[in-house]
Order: sequence, then structure tokens, then C-alpha cells
Amino acid sequence: MKISDHLVVLDYGRKIADGTPHQIRNDAAVIRAYLARMRRTKSRPRSRPISSKKGGCRRMLSIQGVHTFYGHIEALRGVDIEVKEGEIVTMIGANGAGKSTLLMTICGTPQAANGRIVFDGRDITRMPTHLIMRNGIAQSPRSRRIFPRLSVLENLQMGAAGVDPRRSSPKTWSRPSRSSRS
Ligand SMILES: Nc1ncnc2c1ncn2[C@@H]1O[C@H](COP(=O)(O)OP(=O)(O)OP(=O)(O)O)[C@@H](O)[C@H]1O
Ligand SMILES: [Mg+2]
Repeated sequence: MKISDHLVVLDYGRKIADGTPHQIRNDAAVIRAYLARMRRTKSRPRSRPISSKKGGCRRMLSIQGVHTFYGHIEALRGVDIEVKEGEIVTMIGANGAGKSTLLMTICGTPQAANGRIVFDGRDITRMPTHLIMRNGIAQSPRSRRIFPRLSVLENLQMGAAGVDPRRSSPKTWSRPSRSSRS
């Protein structure tokens, strides 16, 4: 919660809350689904997100009414999320809530069965994955899906490897040094 401007909470493929860390901590649906037990044991002081950038007004990513299926299993049930330029948005939810499915749906595999995904003014709902990547969307996977011989920074940089250079900002990608290797 400390690093995010904005949080989205999923539960069984549905978005149950969307707001600032403070709003999420006090949201009745989130407390009911996830926080009630933690609250009884620990009460932490409020913290501000470490991101100093306030989200701009420009919408970068807009997800509207997205449903995604694996065969007959409906993994996402009408998810709506907006991400503005410069915002750090964190998605949280229990195992199986649909976090990975939403990230993969944004990347086009699997594709959304219904709804619309717009990135930087372009409708990417039916775009093939390699073109979505070229438009500037990247994923940095965890655990067994990483490149084990590369450093943490190099793994993150791999996410930008397929991005059209005209759409990326090279200043944000510094060359890895030996000290960044893990
Ligand atoms: N390839 C698949 N085939 C069928 N069902 C799947 C597949 N991948 C995920 N699911 C189902 O879709 C739902 C959402 O799963 P998903 O992996 O998106 O959840 P998650 O929030 O990322 O969970 P975790 O925290 O464990 O990573 C779950 O019910 C899961 O069992
Ligand atoms: Mg997952």
C-alpha cells in the first residue's frame, strides 16, 4: 500500500474496490473480504504512497466491462479499471482472484470475451500480443517465469525489449552495473 497511488481489489474475478490506499483500508467490501482479521491484530499508522508523482488527467489504460474465460470457467466478470498517466496502480486479491488473468488479458492472451481495453488511445482488445507489446505494454513475471541467469534489473529490462523505440523512454532504462546483479 505504501508504493501505490491507486489500488484495485479483485475477489473471485470481480472488482470489489478501487481507490487510494486510505480509501481501500476503509472500504467495507475489502474489510469484509480480506482485512478483518488483520485489523483485529494490528492497527498501522496511515502512510502516504512513496510515488511523488500525482497521476495526471490523461487516461493511459482503460479497461471496460472485461470478461475472460478459460473454456467454461469465467475468470474475470466485468472488470472496469482506469489507469492515468504517471500513476502507480497495484492490483491485490486472494489466490485465484484473477490478477494474472487480467494482466494476461491486457496483453491479449487470453483475449477478453467481452468488454474493451484501450491503451494510450488505441483499442487493443483484439490486437495480437506481439503488437500490444510493441505499443508499450510490458510484463515482468516472477518466480519460475524469469530468466534465471539475468540480474533483477536485466529481467525488468527484458520487458521493454520488444517495445517500439519511438514509444519507449530510453532515459528510464539505465545500463545494468555489476552491483545490480542478484
Ligand atoms: N489456464 C487456466 N485454465 C483454467 N483456469 C484457469 C487458468 N488459469 C487460471 N485459471 C482460473 O482462473 C481464476 C483466476 O486465476 P488467476 O491465475 O488469474 O488468479 P490470481 O489472482 O493471479 O491468483 P494467484 O494469486 O494464485 O497468482 C482461478 O479460478 C484459476 O483457477
Ligand atoms: Mg497470479
